[in-house]
Amino acid sequence: MSYITRTGNLAATPVLRENDKGKPYTYARVLVTDRIRQEDGSYVDGATIGYDVAVQGNQAQNLVDAAERCGNIRITFAGEYRATVYRPEGGEERIQHEVRADEVGKHTTREEPVTDTNQREAVILTACNQKGGVGKSTTVFHLTRAAVLAGLRVLVVDSDPQGNITSVLTEDVGETEPGLADVLSEYTPDTIADVIVPGIWEGLDVVPTTGETLGVVRDQLVVAGAAREGRLSRALEAVRGDYDLILIDCGPNLDQLVINALTAADGALVVTQTKLWSANGLAKLLDTITQVQQSYNPRLRVAGVVLNQHESRTVGGGHWAGEIEAAAEARGLPLLTPPVPKRQAIADATEESIGLDEGDADARELAAIYDGYLTQLTGRN
Ligand SMILES: Nc1ncnc2c1ncn2[C@@H]1O[C@H](COP(=O)(O)OP(=O)(O)OP(=O)(O)O)[C@@H](O)[C@H]1O
Ligand SMILES: [Mg+2]
Repeated sequence: MSYITRTGNLAATPVLRENDKGKPYTYARVLVTDRIRQEDGSYVDGATIGYDVAVQGNQAQNLVDAAERCGNIRITFAGEYRATVYRPEGGEERIQHEVRADEVGKHTTREEPVTDTNQREAVILTACNQKGGVGKSTTVFHLTRAAVLAGLRVLVVDSDPQGNITSVLTEDVGETEPGLADVLSEYTPDTIADVIVPGIWEGLDVVPTTGETLGVVRDQLVVAGAAREGRLSRALEAVRGDYDLILIDCGPNLDQLVINALTAADGALVVTQTKLWSANGLAKLLDTITQVQQSYNPRLRVAGVVLNQHESRTVGGGHWAGEIEAAAEARGLPLLTPPVPKRQAIADATEESIGLDEGDADARELAAIYDGYLTQLTGRN
């Protein structure tokens, strides 16, 4: 058996059934067509495979409801895959492709059938640095604000057991409510869609972290078996089509949670501080990124380096910025420009959960730095 993630269209409206315990389930026939890139960069359709996807519980109910409303919707499913070859006597050989899905995501938030096969999918960025207090969560907060103002649909994933980004980007998520820990744990059945909560701004959703459980799940991941690095990545596949940008905030670590966050990402967003700069620390972080890229996620790149709390008027600040610039250039890392200065307004806005754009002229100038980062990171503005 192997684990697969695929995106395709329903061949027919699935029928909702109940097992003997009264739990809903369904079998969905999903047609998945290969897209083949030609030499001139255009795409043509390749072979189509029909998968028989078994879906359980609420996900089955949601899928059947959506299909009944909207017809042959497009979905992403992830789960255990098994191929069985049938050779009827005198008949033609037939292969049955079966998947026991543990994640199913619809590819539309609109109440209409989807016929476009070139769906946009979210860019996934992971803010990381094993050094604490350099400004990872602050950067995620202000980038999120820039993105929702630009009209992007944003999902922020709190992968830090401290739960800092949850506390500034959501309201009223209780300590016992489900969150990222429940998605990553083997012991709870929650899917990512079950735990997403609305954020404080229009266009923002959050996968929250509260309480102590993410720390416990991190420890479970250390001793977990094969494919543990890909748990977040597989979970996000199901909702990737619903967003333009997914930002993952990490704690000050290089642990299994950070490995999961990097395995899920298109790009690492390295947040660093001029004063706390350490060539050794950066080398270790880049080593981890390279290892994840080689072992689990070939598409991973360093999307950008943020120089935070920069004090350009001090001699020390100037000196260190130069050194970081040289190091970034030597390693081919994209340094986002300009650096973020050290300003109380940046800390205050985060603490109070308000955008810099909502402040005075100085604050709005600072907001423009994050607007620029968004463009540099996603090519959008
Ligand atoms: N540019 C800035 N100017 C002034 N204060 C800042 C700036 N960036 C971050 N801070 C402050 O520095 C502190 C640490 O920032 P933050 O919590 O974002 O760091 P972090 O890297 O996420 O920390 P951790 O590793 O604990 O998750 C916070 O009090 C924050 O308000
Ligand atoms: Mg943080």
